Amino acid sequence: MTSQPATSLSRTGQESETGVQFPPGFVWGVATASFQIEGSTTADGRGASIWDTFSATPGKVQNGDTGDPACDHYNRYRDDVALMRDLGVGAYRFSVAWPRVQPTGSGKPLQAGLDFYDKLVDALLEVGIEPWPTLYHWDLPQTLEDAGGWPNRDTAYRFAEYAGVMYELLGDRITNWNTLNEPWCAAFLGYASGVHAPGRREPASALAAAHHLMLGHGLAANVIRDLGAGAGRAPLVGIVHNQTTVRPYTDGEADVDAARRIDALRNRIFTEPLVKGRYPEDLLADVAAVSDYGFVRDGDLETISAPLDMLGVNFYNPSWVSGSREGVDPDDLGPAEYSPSVGSEHVVDVDTGLPVTAMGWPIDATGLYDTLTRLAADYPGLPLYVTENGAAFEDRVVDGAVHDEDRIAYLDAHLRAAHEAIGAGVPLKGYFAWSLMDNFEWALGYGKRFGLVHVDYDTQVRTVKDSGLWYGRVARNGGIGA
Ligand code: NOJ
Repeated sequence: MTSQPATSLSRTGQESETGVQFPPGFVWGVATASFQIEGSTTADGRGASIWDTFSATPGKVQNGDTGDPACDHYNRYRDDVALMRDLGVGAYRFSVAWPRVQPTGSGKPLQAGLDFYDKLVDALLEVGIEPWPTLYHWDLPQTLEDAGGWPNRDTAYRFAEYAGVMYELLGDRITNWNTLNEPWCAAFLGYASGVHAPGRREPASALAAAHHLMLGHGLAANVIRDLGAGAGRAPLVGIVHNQTTVRPYTDGEADVDAARRIDALRNRIFTEPLVKGRYPEDLLADVAAVSDYGFVRDGDLETISAPLDMLGVNFYNPSWVSGSREGVDPDDLGPAEYSPSVGSEHVVDVDTGLPVTAMGWPIDATGLYDTLTRLAADYPGLPLYVTENGAAFEDRVVDGAVHDEDRIAYLDAHLRAAHEAIGAGVPLKGYFAWSLMDNFEWALGYGKRFGLVHVDYDTQVRTVKDSGLWYGRVARNGGIGA
């Protein structure tokens, strides 16, 4: 492996013992998502989402786990808000379950769904925690999937309508809005590899889904802005992407080209239309055999590139890719998550032998530094937020405590990388740890724990892990102590 990190940062942070202080006003938050924590999937008229259907299909989710009970947050949200208050975080990024608000994805909203988010937001504000909603974190109403899902253009318009419903409800109390969470996953894991709901394996549909998700973002952003302006407010609108640094396994031509292709499919397919109003030429050429992009209509790119107030970055690990299996030790092949995707034939993820989390993801905080500095260079002036960062490990509750030193080391290293990026001029304005508490990790079910708080799913007892205590101190102090 010849690829080197671009900075002198420690990959794991364990060697770092000096303190670092973040700028005043830096936002310190935690994040969750509706389907992963709420449970009560049929309560009070909530409609079915694609994740209800997918998780009820045998073989799709490990252990047959479903969205129930999750963390029973629907009934315990007050306790969870108190938990956040006690930790000392200043902001909470949560998502709204679209089928709780519009059970079939359009039309008159359901009062019980509105009430839930109304009460959640009030409870947060009462204790001084700023609510940061994300409108779509993958729980598409099943009715909309039955009508074609994200590959169907109409879904983008339904999403904008729903965004308007939520802004009407909460716009008087909320400034920062994110439209979509990780549309790469929604499009490519949902419609290309099929490992996420709705589980379709249609490469051309995945590209159409990616476009319509972004169109939905642009339409929703305009709705939120217009409604806000009409009410004399200035909401801030952003979107959350899982951008990452894609590194070639070697500096050989095939690997460098593989990294370019994956970077286009993973990163630039979203950021170029979003910020510059165009699709990358090399992407269009790479996927030409799969799609002619005939789904792009006049005006779409203008809509998608509507002014953006902030960009959210979910970062977990960098990727190393190779253009061929030749010369790569078969034991070193990674999950090859891109292989079933479009335009990425013959590209494999390579395991570089770095320490990994319980997800098998390599730990290398220099990837966060590289991701942030690159975004700041490519799209100057755009305020950035780390909207997710964290790690799953094999946690154990022993005598009422979880001593998760490995998670503290991970968070510490990534916060130092974020701090170094700020020092290099990156306009990074906040950081949200993933996740407040253990939750439903999609196709991996409840087996993978990312929380700062441990959840016993049988009793719903919450136990603050050592990492939660540590992160709370960081949030309250505005930095990492010496
Ligand atoms: C990003 C996703 O937004 C979140 O839902 C997921 O749990 C984490 N990655 C960890 O895989």
